Amino acid sequence: MKNKVSIIGAGMTGSTTAHWLAEREFADLVLIDIVDGMPQGKALDLQEALPIIGKDVSVIGSNDYEATANSDIVIITAGLPRKPGMSRDDLLFANADIVRKAVEETIRHSPEAIYIILTNPLDVMAFLAMKVAQIEPYRVIGQAGVLDSARMRAFVAMELGISVENIHCYVLGGHGDNMIPLTRTSNIAGISLDQTMPPEKLAAIVERTRKGGGEIVSLLKTGSAYYAPAAAVAQMAEAILKDKHLIVPAAAYLQGEYGLNDIFFGVPTQLGRKGVERIFEYELDEEEMAAFQRSAKDVTDNIAKLEL
Ligand code: APR
Repeated sequence: MKNKVSIIGAGMTGSTTAHWLAEREFADLVLIDIVDGMPQGKALDLQEALPIIGKDVSVIGSNDYEATANSDIVIITAGLPRKPGMSRDDLLFANADIVRKAVEETIRHSPEAIYIILTNPLDVMAFLAMKVAQIEPYRVIGQAGVLDSARMRAFVAMELGISVENIHCYVLGGHGDNMIPLTRTSNIAGISLDQTMPPEKLAAIVERTRKGGGEIVSLLKTGSAYYAPAAAVAQMAEAILKDKHLIVPAAAYLQGEYGLNDIFFGVPTQLGRKGVERIFEYELDEEEMAAFQRSAKDVTDNIAKLEL
């Protein structure tokens, strides 16, 4: 039987995720949205593209959660996008209501599903999803680190003219202004990123990475990034369904790792068929540790606001 992936929220990120996933042909797809006709239309359009690219998966769109029954993975992108000048945290309460409903509905129909959460602020939404679904923490993963790290990799590649395949960047922590692009651990073919360019160039890349989401928002003016976020989710879904044991930076539930407890936080996370298989701990220097604490405080403050 084919794998099944349901994507809640068929907006820009949700439908682009479906596109990336359909191209890889390892799961049947369901798109759910609150807007009548929209997920049906996008799903049919994508289904009609598949003969051209030669991929055999089914793509269904619906406003009814019953269509998601027995999903292996549920991806949640439903929510309000960030507008120019709006912080991710402004979205907290509105998106919490949307995510709560999406989780309640999907867990009923797919009690074994693994959740990938994208709706912002995603570290908090992942925590909310775990609580609402009442499932093991390893079955909930937030997507941010793959995206933030990909942005950093792209900027390094543009700066140095080296293939993105040789560039390994690790952006950890919460998905906000205090995210932590680790320059010492990031490397190019094994050479620490710190050693590859002058400090001011590297500092500019770190800053651009931190503001990467905002840069796209201010260019687009309506809506936020979707190609890269969707590609990140697709990579994570593939790692899970193919049981790849792939290590990616992602928001996982911490129980003592990095000295943090009861929080979803971006860390190197090994993904396989059961979800989060393992969390890797880097040896952090003092400065990095302080950055972790700052970023973790942002996340715990927001979790507290939800009074779960
Ligand atoms: N149930 C299902 N879908 C919903 C609900 C709901 N209660 N509320 C909103 N949606 C849908 C919207 O109708 C829209 O189609 O979620 C979709 C969100 O899509 P976009 O507005 O295109 O936003 P997108 O760019 O895809 O971003 C999705 O990711 O970056 C995060 O937090 C950000 O909420 C944003 C999410």
